[in-house]
Amino acid sequence: MDRIIVRGGAPLSGRIAIGGAKNACLALMPAALLTEEPLTLTNAPRLADIRTMTELLASLGVEVAALQGGRVLALAAHGLSSHLAHYDIVRKMRASILVLGPLLAREGRAVVSLPGGCAIGARPVDLHLKGLEAMGAVMDLREGYVHAEAPGGLRGARVAFPFVSVGATENILMAATLAKGTTVLENAAKEPEIVDLARCLRAMGAHIEGEGTGTITVEGVDRLGGATHRVAPDRIELGTYMIAPAIAGGEVLLEGGRRDLVAAFAERLEAADVEVSEEPEGLRVRRKNGVIRPVDISTAPFPGFPTDLQAQMMTLLTLADGKSRIEETIFENRFMHVPELARMGARIEVEGGVATVSGVSALKGAPVMASDLRASASLVLAGLAAEGETVVSRVYHLDRGYERVEEKLSACGARIERIGG
Ligand code: EPZ
Repeated sequence: MDRIIVRGGAPLSGRIAIGGAKNACLALMPAALLTEEPLTLTNAPRLADIRTMTELLASLGVEVAALQGGRVLALAAHGLSSHLAHYDIVRKMRASILVLGPLLAREGRAVVSLPGGCAIGARPVDLHLKGLEAMGAVMDLREGYVHAEAPGGLRGARVAFPFVSVGATENILMAATLAKGTTVLENAAKEPEIVDLARCLRAMGAHIEGEGTGTITVEGVDRLGGATHRVAPDRIELGTYMIAPAIAGGEVLLEGGRRDLVAAFAERLEAADVEVSEEPEGLRVRRKNGVIRPVDISTAPFPGFPTDLQAQMMTLLTLADGKSRIEETIFENRFMHVPELARMGARIEVEGGVATVSGVSALKGAPVMASDLRASASLVLAGLAAEGETVVSRVYHLDRGYERVEEKLSACGARIERIGG
């Protein structure tokens, strides 16, 4: 298994190109199930999770061609050969549940494995199922699979989510495009990935209003057509690389980055005394000469501080001049980076969903590992600032969501390499 070795202490200088958003692309790809015509996605990221979604769609009979080295995905669901999302694929990636809504809408039936829990929390899919039930689907849970049917087709409904769910919003949004009548999604997620999906669906002929707000209205249509859509920039990759110069020192231009994608995060970074400026080409981040100031954060659905940047921000705050309070409100077990950061000399106490970080003057390199994607990223960032050598193992977590992390960082002067085997 690959490892990443970081020798800390080198300030960064240069540019990092931000790729297409993993989480947007994972919702856009199943949208291809809604039409017989081709859907082409440009600016796709080349990541393990995208390959898993490709495998899942191919198992349903979707033709998927990865063009330009995987940067362009050409998807065509002329006819589907299966409506079964097998456990072997779903267990690898929870986003697999996103085929449920489109399959039901197009085929009137779907059998999808339940994803089960994962490292960061229990993560049920009850909101997805209840939303589709409200639209007329009949669900039966047998042997770990959801057997869903909508013999007369889905019909528009009012779907009021009790709390915000990105995935449930995406699933219901896709299903509603082909339902009979009007669907109103209340307390819908406002994440940029939802906006990107709605734009793509609209280009395919869907009638959608209100994406990016808490209420989305969808007028069902009889059929959708093909489209070409450019995947939006990855705001979590952007935020992760914004921490790199903040923690290692120096200045980096994040090409393609936009402040509106990471506004709450950028504001907290500035409160920690890191300079963030928006330029025509992207976001420039510079570590001021002084100390990192402690800041408090609490994760929240968009436009709040993203849970997917909590671990990376915590890494920065391990070196702040004082105490920071970090509250995780989205997932119940998303502090797995804490014991690993502690092995590098960080001082962090966790009580329930709150971590108190007491800044130290330096981190020390160590062998570390993490059991989820963003936690792995936080350890690479810690390595950039630590004295000596940090060896991050279980790099496959990182490869699910970051493309060529070692190349992007070493191009800016970081001493980082991947060791195979
Ligand atoms: C998406 O997951 C992202 N994944 C996650 O990114 C991200 O952390 C999360 O949104 C929150 O922003 C993708 O887009 C592929 P949710 P999703 O439904 O849709 C609970 C990363 O690192 N819930 O908004 O699964 C759930 O357990 C990842 O790239 C239910 O209880 O998240 C969680 O506590 C990891 N029932 C909360 O809601 C449901 O039916 C929010 O989850 C659905 C969710």
